[in-house]
Amino acid sequence: ALERTLSIIKPDAVAKNVIGEIYTRFEKAGLKIVAAKMKHLSRQEAEGFYAVHRERPFFNALVEFMISGPVMIQVLEGENAIAKNRELMGATDPKKAEPGTIRADFADSIDANAVHGSDAPETAAVEIAYFFSTTEIHGR
Ligand code: CMP
Repeated sequence: ALERTLSIIKPDAVAKNVIGEIYTRFEKAGLKIVAAKMKHLSRQEAEGFYAVHRERPFFNALVEFMISGPVMIQVLEGENAIAKNRELMGATDPKKAEPGTIRADFADSIDANAVHGSDAPETAAVEIAYFFSTTEIHGR
């Protein structure tokens, strides 16, 4: 099905100057960037975005990391965009990520893991609406 997914290039990858390299991977895989913004998240925005992880032991470190610098946020559109983006990203822990994936190539740790991608249609819809209004999305 034609899907949309929320993608975030995290502060570590923005600082490494690899936004373009990561965008090229999306495009080569047939994912279209239909919305994008660079943003330095406030603590409140990061906590709200990751609210489902609030009780997890890594929550505070995750929030601190996500507000440590600007992020690049985009909506990707394409056939099976959610799974396709997760394939491109590789496993959450870069040590477990398949060679050639974004995390294997650009991530340093499970916290500084270069990218985020929605994991299911329901979370994609919530995450997209968290950052973009419908008029900011330029898809099909
Ligand atoms: P992300 O896809 O952005 O969703 C939550 C983030 O928490 C995850 O990527 C990781 O960067 C981070 N994280 C840190 N420790 C863990 C862990 N043990 N399990 C899952 N995610 C973790």
